[in-house]
Amino acid sequence: MTGHLTGRTAVPAAQRRIVLARRPDGVPAEADFRVETAAVAPPGPGEALVRTVHLSLDPYVRGTLTGRDLGHPPVRPGDLVPGRAVARVVDTGEWVLAETGWQEYAAVPSTSLRPLSLPPGVPRTAALGALGTPGLTAYAAVTRLLRPAVGDTVVVSSATGAVGGVAGQLAALAGARTVAVAGGPEKCRIAVEHFGYTAAVDRHDPSWTEALAAACPDGVDGYLHMAGGAVLEGVLNRLAVGGRVVLCGLPENANEVGTPAALPAGLLMRTRAVVRGLVVFDHEDLAPRFARRVGALVAEGRLRLLEDVHEGLESAPAAFRRLMSGGNAGKTIVRVAQG
Ligand SMILES: NC(=O)c1ccc[n+]([C@@H]2O[C@H](COP(=O)([O-])OP(=O)(O)OC[C@H]3O[C@@H](n4cnc5c(N)ncnc54)[C@H](OP(=O)(O)O)[C@@H]3O)[C@@H](O)[C@H]2O)c1
Repeated sequence: MTGHLTGRTAVPAAQRRIVLARRPDGVPAEADFRVETAAVAPPGPGEALVRTVHLSLDPYVRGTLTGRDLGHPPVRPGDLVPGRAVARVVDTGEWVLAETGWQEYAAVPSTSLRPLSLPPGVPRTAALGALGTPGLTAYAAVTRLLRPAVGDTVVVSSATGAVGGVAGQLAALAGARTVAVAGGPEKCRIAVEHFGYTAAVDRHDPSWTEALAAACPDGVDGYLHMAGGAVLEGVLNRLAVGGRVVLCGLPENANEVGTPAALPAGLLMRTRAVVRGLVVFDHEDLAPRFARRVGALVAEGRLRLLEDVHEGLESAPAAFRRLMSGGNAGKTIVRVAQG
């Protein structure tokens, strides 16, 4: 059924959208979400109607579902789940980045749309991953906060994820030895073979700290932390004197499971460590340089991409559960429509 005709496309009268059914308890479950059918509202003054094509799933959304993400408004039961997407403006066909939420069509303020600007040959989905917020996070962590010297050992946890995959490659390009901490043998294989880490350690292996010690014989000079408290403790125990630690992701805090990670004060004092918290919005000033440099690396094939792609809007709840329970490797994306 066609709702209204625009300059280029027939827009259906109704669309699917995914709302929060109930607040998650721990790792989100599929039943925490509900698929609804809703009218596609024509855009109001100053708005544009966009069609969601590639929807980005990101860990920060977990915090919004219990109102704990400081940078985004809380989501209440019945509310649309938020999310960024590569989308098309219905009237013009222009490709944009838009905050569509988990729905097929969204009327959004025209001023909030960001035209997609990517080097030739780079897939549009890169704007959600390596050339989007996860990539900028990795770029800020490595080039501004960790600043590895040639020969330094840099450890990255969540090493094959959207942020980790980029961070490991940027640290290696700076001349560091890179060691991945990842969940499971398959991700460790991907870390070394796809992302080029020097070595990889499986955080689920009971003897992973011994494997880490073997992979870091001279200690850890830089650590990008995006894992649980046990990983933080295990890596900090290998910290070299003068080590730099960047706290970027706390999945146990996000899922509200386990005990919050504690920092070992004596060890940090003895190693004269610098511990920095990272919030990507503080590093927006790096965005133009990041887009130029990392865009060129991706276009030249010197920085590899990996995506965990799910088909259809209805797959978003299961894909989100997978992301928040460590099932993904690469950037999690839901293909909502064909481009
Ligand atoms: N501070 C900031 O400004 C900022 C910006 C962007 C992202 N982040 C954070 O950075 C982290 C990575 O983001 P991303 O988008 O690249 O996600 P991602 O790494 O693609 O996916 C999340 C990964 O977390 C890992 N993980 C480690 N310990 C876990 C645990 N106890 N429970 C569940 N998962 C666990 C899993 O990988 P393994 O199983 O391989 O360990 C999982 O695949 C997230 O924590 C995110 O919140 C922070």
